Amino acid sequence: MKQAIIDLAYLVSAILFIFGLKRLQSPATARHGNQLAALGMFVAVAATLFMQEILTPAQMLLGVVVGGGIGAIMARRVQMTGMPELVAAFNGFGGIASTLVAGAEIAHILAIGSGSLGAVTAVTIALSMLIGTVTFTGSFVAFGKLSERISGNPISFPGMRPMTLLLVVAVLGGTTWMVMGAPDFPAVADPVVIGAIVVAGAALLLGVLLVIPIGGADMPVVVALLNSYSGLAAAATGFVLDNTVLIVSGALVGASGLILTNIMCVAMNRSLLNVLIGGFGGDSGAKSASAGAGGDMGSVNSTTADDVAIMLAYASKVIFVPGYGMAVAQAQHAVRELADELEKKGVDVKFAVHPVAGRMPGHMNVLLAEANVSYDKLFEMDEINGEFDTTDVAVVIGANDVVNPAARHDKSSPIYGMPILNVDHAATSIVLKRSMRPGYAGIANELFYNSNNQMLFGDAKESIAKVVTEVKAL
Ligand code: TAP
Repeated sequence: MKQAIIDLAYLVSAILFIFGLKRLQSPATARHGNQLAALGMFVAVAATLFMQEILTPAQMLLGVVVGGGIGAIMARRVQMTGMPELVAAFNGFGGIASTLVAGAEIAHILAIGSGSLGAVTAVTIALSMLIGTVTFTGSFVAFGKLSERISGNPISFPGMRPMTLLLVVAVLGGTTWMVMGAPDFPAVADPVVIGAIVVAGAALLLGVLLVIPIGGADMPVVVALLNSYSGLAAAATGFVLDNTVLIVSGALVGASGLILTNIMCVAMNRSLLNVLIGGFGGDSGAKSASAGAGGDMGSVNSTTADDVAIMLAYASKVIFVPGYGMAVAQAQHAVRELADELEKKGVDVKFAVHPVAGRMPGHMNVLLAEANVSYDKLFEMDEINGEFDTTDVAVVIGANDVVNPAARHDKSSPIYGMPILNVDHAATSIVLKRSMRPGYAGIANELFYNSNNQMLFGDAKESIAKVVTEVKAL
C-alpha cells in the first residue's frame, strides 16, 4: 500500500514535470510552467520523506520554511544580469547532491553486509559520483568566472592535458576497484570505499580542469551543458536507488540542457567543441577598445535625444532591438515607456529578439516581460527579419554582435554565418551605446558606419529617458 502511494505520487510528479516543461515554451506560460514543475518536485520529495518515514511532518515543514526561505531570498536579491551565476551555483548543488546520495548508497550496501556491490551497481554509482562531482566543481568554477571572483580569461598551464588524462585513468581505476569489491575487507580498507574516494577525488579536479580553459563570456553555454550533466548525474543516481522519479526528472533535465546547449551554439554559429576548447569567449572587458574602433571603416554620425525623439514620433513603423547593453543599463522600463508614448502617437511598434541577444537564453524576453511589454509585440528573428525593409526606424538598444552585417559576408569574421537581425535594411537605424567599444565577440560593427545609421552615445537608460521626455513634449 505504502509503495503504491509513493509510486502514484511519483507518477503525478513526472506528469507535472512534463507539463511544466511544455509550458516553459512561451514567455506567456513560463511562470505557470515553473510553478507546476516546483509543485512536482515538492510532491516527489514530500512523498519520499513522509511515506518512507524519514522525516515527520513537523521536520518537513521546518525544511520547507528554511530551504524555501533561503531560495526566496536568493531569488529576490539576484539581479537579472546575475542569473547565469545563480543557475551555475544551483547546478553545482545538484551535482554534489548526486555524489552524496551515491556515497550514502555505498555506506548502506556495505552496512547491510553484502560487501560487493555487483558490477552494474558499482559502475552506476561510479558514474553518478563522476558526473555529479565534475558538475559540482565545474559549476562553481563557472560561478566564479561569471561573478568575476576568478579571471574570465581562459586559464591553462603546461602539463594540463597529461594531467587530465591521468585523472581519467584514475576514474577508470577507481571504478574497477569498486567493481571488484570483496566482502572480506574491513570497511575502511574496502576496495569499494577506496575506489569511490579515488573516483570522487579525480572528478573534483576534472571539473576544475575542464572549465578553467574556457573564457568567461562562454560560461552561459558551459552552464547549460553542466545543467545537462547535473540531470544525467541525477538519472544515474535514480538507477542506483531504483527511483523512477529521479530517473525521469534527471533524464528531462539532461535532455533539455543538451537541447538548450545546442540551440545556443547554433544561434552563435559555433560548434560545442569550439566553445569547449576556447574560441572568442575571453573576457570581453579585456579586449582593447580599438578592436571595435573599425579601423578604416570611415566615420560615424552621432545624434541627440531631441533628434531621435522627432524621428521616432513622426515614423509610421519602429522596431526596437534590445541587446546586452539594455540589461546592463536596466533600460527595459524606460524602453516600454517610450514604446507606449509612440503608440499613443499612432506609431506601429514592435520588438525584435535575437536568440542569443544578452548573455543567457531568453534574457531579453525576461527583461521585457518584467517591464510588462506585451508578448504579442515580441517577435523572434525569423518572424520579423522580413519586416525591416518596410521599417522607418530600427532602434538598437545596447545590442552589437546580433546586428553586425559582417556575419553575412565577412568570412574572416569570428561571427561569420551567425544569423543576425536585418537592422541595416531599415530606412534609418539608431544605435544606443556608450562608446565605440566592441560587444562580446570583440569586433567592429559595420552597421555603425552606414550613412543611414546614427549613434546616440550614452547609457541606454539615460538616453531613452531623455527621448521619452522629448517625445512627450512634441
Ligand atoms: P554584445 O554584442 O555583447 O554588445 C553589447 C553592447 O552593449 C556593447 O557593445 C556595449 O557597448 C553596450 N552596452 C553595455 N552597457 C551599456 C549601457 N549601460 N548602455 C548602453 N549600451 C551598453 O550584445 P548582443 O548584441 O546582445 O550580443 C550578444 C553576444 O553575446 C553575442 O555575441 C552572443 O553570441 C553572445 N552570447 C550570448 C549568449 C546568450 S545565450 N544570450 C551566451 C553567450 C554568449 P558600450 O560598451 O560602448 O556601451
